[in-house]
Amino acid sequence: MKNNQYLLTNHNAENRVSTLTLHRPEALNALSAPLMNELAEALQAADKNANVGCIVITGNEKAFAAGADIKGMVDCDAKTMQETDLLANWSVIDTIQTPVIAAVNGYALGGGFELAMACDCIVAGSNATFGLPEVSIGVIPGAGGTQRLTRAVGKALAMKLILTGQSFSAQQALDWKIAGVVCPPEDTVNTALILAEKIGSLPAVAVQRAKQCIVKASEANLTEGLAYERNIFYSLFDTPDQKEGMRAFIEKRKPVWQHQ
Ligand code: CAA
Repeated sequence: MKNNQYLLTNHNAENRVSTLTLHRPEALNALSAPLMNELAEALQAADKNANVGCIVITGNEKAFAAGADIKGMVDCDAKTMQETDLLANWSVIDTIQTPVIAAVNGYALGGGFELAMACDCIVAGSNATFGLPEVSIGVIPGAGGTQRLTRAVGKALAMKLILTGQSFSAQQALDWKIAGVVCPPEDTVNTALILAEKIGSLPAVAVQRAKQCIVKASEANLTEGLAYERNIFYSLFDTPDQKEGMRAFIEKRKPVWQHQ
């Protein structure tokens, strides 16, 4: 386990899963610039590691993350925010090809919820509280919230949730298809790890290309998305794992993946 200042990292080589634990408990894991630097670096390192098939991001029982670090931003002016591009590191997660699961207990507010939504799947403990309260402190969700929540739940509900800043429960997140799974809080990380291990056991190139196509679905029109998908489907026929997967099926044996 490598210890950064605000992030604990753990790589389980056997199940091909890297776990990144946000660790700023004194501030409910508020996502300060140093913490986001460490997270961006760890995500990139895991993504480059051929032995990582899935990444889990989690926090602690009380908070996944209570947002961007308000104390670090309070005195900035607009020019400083533009010039330092404080949120630049938040986009790193969009460049990660390896699937990323958010295991959320407690508060996932503001930037914390935006980080969870930027992951590929949210596993929520029943104690999780989600919300985008930014208007209540005089700003707006700035790390993807207005875009991702609207795509996830539609305009009417996104308007209600963002313009009031009201928080909502894990069950509501499940009902609104924001979370993929809800479980008892003590099972959240384990549930995410079981899902991650399953993903990590499958051929990495196919998994990553499938992720790429699903991401494309929220950006492209149907015609463009279908052409994109078809092209990627064909391209996989040059990979060793396509040959192995199909031959193993025909030969009625278990495939041995090269993850290539
Ligand atoms: N930034 C900085 N510090 C934070 C923080 C944040 N987002 N959230 C909590 N903290 C700190 C508190 O200041 C407090 O520190 P002190 O002990 O030094 O006072 C400590 O964490 C514990 O917090 P509370 O005492 O407030 O704990 P609570 O249990 O009473 O309340 C809470 C919990 C409802 C989550 C409350 O802390 C809260 O409302 N936090 C802010 C939520 C928020 O507004 N998030 C949006 C941030 S802006 C953003 O994210 C912009 C963006 O889009 C990128």
